[in-house]
Amino acid sequence: MTILIKNGQVVSPQGAIAADVLVDREKIVAVFTPGDTSLGKELASSADTVIDAARKYVIPGGVDAHTHMELPFGGTYASDTFDTGTLAAAWGGTTTIIDFAVQKTGERVQDCLAAWHEKANGNTHIDYAFHQILGGVDDDSLKAMDELVNEGITSFKLFMAYPGVYYSDDGQILRAMQAASNNGSMIMMHAENGIAIDVLVAQALAEGKTDPKYHSLTRPWETEAEATNRAIMLSRITGAPLYIVHMSAKQAVQVLQSAKNEGLNVFGETCPQYLYLSLEEQLSQPGFEGAKWVCSTPLRSKEEGHQEELWKYLRTNDLSIVSTDHCPFCFKEQKELGLGNFAAIPNGIGSVEHRLDLLYQGVVNGHISLARWVEICSTTPARMFGLYPQKGVIAPGSDADIVIYDPAGRTEIGFHKTHHMNMDHSAWEGFNIDGHVDTVISRGKVVVDNNTYLGHKGHGKFLKRGLSQYLI
Ligand code: URP
Ligand code: ZN
Ligand code: ZN
Repeated sequence: MTILIKNGQVVSPQGAIAADVLVDREKIVAVFTPGDTSLGKELASSADTVIDAARKYVIPGGVDAHTHMELPFGGTYASDTFDTGTLAAAWGGTTTIIDFAVQKTGERVQDCLAAWHEKANGNTHIDYAFHQILGGVDDDSLKAMDELVNEGITSFKLFMAYPGVYYSDDGQILRAMQAASNNGSMIMMHAENGIAIDVLVAQALAEGKTDPKYHSLTRPWETEAEATNRAIMLSRITGAPLYIVHMSAKQAVQVLQSAKNEGLNVFGETCPQYLYLSLEEQLSQPGFEGAKWVCSTPLRSKEEGHQEELWKYLRTNDLSIVSTDHCPFCFKEQKELGLGNFAAIPNGIGSVEHRLDLLYQGVVNGHISLARWVEICSTTPARMFGLYPQKGVIAPGSDADIVIYDPAGRTEIGFHKTHHMNMDHSAWEGFNIDGHVDTVISRGKVVVDNNTYLGHKGHGKFLKRGLSQYLI
């Protein structure tokens, strides 16, 4: 099966060029300028399928480096399975996810990873890889890290938050970082001071402050900036590369920026929710409505100007990647677990379907360039997590993961509109975006064709990752 994509603008971190793209089975085999008419004519006449991408962008499929399908959290599970979550991702132009296998204290890491393979194998619509959460750092799990690296799990997430659940203390973090420093893997950090937060939460509840907005008010920016600084100091001692996930506080990114300026191997990610949503506009909605936007790190105050600063840090590459931290929960029966107690609301927002559109709005609004859009949504996540050039680029030899994006199209986001995630609401209800995902190709297969779904569960394959390509 060959596919020729003609007349489009092929976008990479270097910019956009007019080029045609030829796909043969699962791979991109040629990218050539339309000026080469003899070759173009010959290929057009022989290609099985020809797609006209005139006036459209041809971009590498999105790589979402942070998703939580079926994550156990707060007495329930994230509501998307690998089937529903990757279907939604495909609709939105994401062709690779990196999900988090979960280990808790007392569990054998290898068994937990096997369980995650079991959940995903044969159930995904797009390709997938795993990071490993280490919820219990001990001698056995430290040894397991080396084994996992050889199996293509080259990054490990630790939590400075959620005491009693996923939390690691500084000694455990230091030991895991030493192991990472020896085997070349990346430590991913949930950087919030969970011990201090738990005190603030208990005090707020004792004062009768139970509404969802107190989730943010008991996790002030200082708890993120302090933990970010501590994580960086521990990584400096050990030499381990560090990637701070879901950054929302401008002060925390400032801390990261100075460490980067010193030349440390430290990186940061933010998520669409921190670029667009806020404590005042969403989390403080009347009654229990704000529960839809309870996630950690929390949505921050718009008045404090975090959003503008995060866009700026994306431009300057102090923040390298935008992932979703997709962790959906239904309002009924899941978010409602926290009625009368904000601390019992399962933490997470579902966005896996909307990341490319939401970030393209950043191009329209002048926050980032077209090239940067592709870089933060696809190329850098592929490089950061050892998937490049198989993923993240339109080049001969790469997997044929391609999105044809119409800048003149419109996308209306909402539960009854472009929503395929397994949730009974959308955190993005009413967001209307300039731009539209027209066609999505996953490893040479057209899975989305102008609002028609042609993919299927089982198409996606597990990706064994290499080490991060940003480390020296
Ligand atoms: O609110 C969030 N972020 N839920 C998912 C778990 C995590 O900490 O990433
Ligand atoms: Zn986290
Ligand atoms: Zn997460």
